[in-house]
Amino acid sequence: MPKTDNINRIIDHKLFSEDDIHNMCVTLGKKLTEDYAGKKPLVVGALKGAIFFLTDLVREMDVEEEIDFMDVSSYGDGFESSGKVKLISDLVTNVKGRDVLIVEDIVDTGLTLKYMKDLLKKRGAKSVKCCVLLNKEANRTTDVKIEYYGSKVGNEFVVGYGLDFMNFFRNLRYIGVLKPEIIKQVNNK
Ligand code: IMP
Repeated sequence: MPKTDNINRIIDHKLFSEDDIHNMCVTLGKKLTEDYAGKKPLVVGALKGAIFFLTDLVREMDVEEEIDFMDVSSYGDGFESSGKVKLISDLVTNVKGRDVLIVEDIVDTGLTLKYMKDLLKKRGAKSVKCCVLLNKEANRTTDVKIEYYGSKVGNEFVVGYGLDFMNFFRNLRYIGVLKPEIIKQVNNK
C-alpha cells in the first residue's frame, strides 16, 4: 500500500504542522542560547525518537555544543510504558564535569528521563537538564523536572517528526494523533 494511504488510515488529525514545530524549535533554541551562554554543553539525544528534534534544535542554538546519543527504552512495541527502563546503547563521551542537556521527543510517565538524569548525575555531570518537544503530563508517575518543553499535549498517542507507531511514521514532517481504533486493534491482538 502506498505510504500516503497508510498515513490517512492511521492519523485522526494533525496536531502540529511543520511551521508549529519550527516555531517551537526557534523559541526553545533562543532560550537555550541564553541559558547556556559561555558554557559548552553536551547535548544528549535519546534515540531514536529525538533525532529529528535534536538536529533542528541545535541549529537554533548559538552555543558551542557537543552532541552524543543514548538509546534507552521503556516502551517496547506497545502504547504504554513497560515501567522498566533498559539502556540499549550508551554514550561515547565522558560526562564528568559537563553541563548536559538531554533532548527527548516526548515525556510521558517520566521514567525514561528520570533514569537518564539519575545515571548522568551519578557519572559526575555538573548539571543535567531536559528539553522535550512534547510534554504529556496525564500519565506522569515520576517527579522528574522538565526544564524546557515545546508544548503540552493531552493523553493521546502522537506520531511523526521522530515519534513512532511500532517503529513506523517517524519520518512524517508533521505531528498527528493516531486514530483511537488503531490503538484498540493493536491492544486486542
Ligand atoms: P516515558 O518514559 O513514559 O516518559 O516515555 C517516554 C517515551 O515513550 C518517549 O521517548 C516515546 O518513545 C514514548 N512515547 C510516549 N508517548 C508517546 C506517543 O504519544 N507517541 C509515540 N511515542 C510515545
